[in-house]
Amino acid sequence: MSTARRALVAGNWKMYKDRAAAKATALALRETLGSCEIPEVAVFPPFPFLADVSEALHGSAISLGAQDLHPGKEGAFTGEVSGWMLRSVGCRWVIVGHSERRHQLGETDEVVARKLRAALESGLDPILCVGETLQERERRDTERVIERQIESAFHGVGTSRGQVTIAYEPVWAIGTGRNATPEQASEVHKRIRDWSEDARVRVLYGGSVKPENVGALAKAPEIDGVLVGGASLEVSSFARLVAAFKSRD
Ligand code: PGA
Repeated sequence: MSTARRALVAGNWKMYKDRAAAKATALALRETLGSCEIPEVAVFPPFPFLADVSEALHGSAISLGAQDLHPGKEGAFTGEVSGWMLRSVGCRWVIVGHSERRHQLGETDEVVARKLRAALESGLDPILCVGETLQERERRDTERVIERQIESAFHGVGTSRGQVTIAYEPVWAIGTGRNATPEQASEVHKRIRDWSEDARVRVLYGGSVKPENVGALAKAPEIDGVLVGGASLEVSSFARLVAAFKSRD
């Protein structure tokens, strides 16, 4: 790797698996990748399975994250979960501003910014997702959209910026089988690094990352790792993604 940033391979299970499958997957991951330190490996199960997965991974090098959090610490917010609660079940990470939440659940830049601050305040390492829609890319608005998303999320975040990982996930590439090329991703990653104004910020790529295309992405020095949905559900395919980042270091 050409930078001091350690690569991260993160598996977002989204709303998949039942309790038994989540536990079995975590145990199998522990068996296969439990001592892997380069790259860093993290998994993001649905809320109800966090405690079980935390227990299954305890003492291994694989860390745990949640897919979302509420901006507050506690209160009358039916159905919501706070960063402080996530910490108490062993989470280190939390995903903030995933495009499925921005576009399907109406999460605004302002809400994303509040969640990012709450994550940092509760001691979680946030993965901030940014990315343009197909329409925005076609209008050549990619840079403007991503700059706005980053500026607004980072507003008021001072020295803890370096603790944030940014995932560039073009909306047109998520779950579609159509991934950005390493060149397309690298171009945006360079700009993200400039806008984030902190050389410690890791920039991941996400959107249809598969064992078949990860090799080229892992070779690009601007890509510090991947955030993966579909291909993270099976241990065998997830392990192949991890292997691609191991061999480049
Ligand atoms: P995908 O999802 O790998 O299934 O495209 C990526 C993501 O949403 O983080």
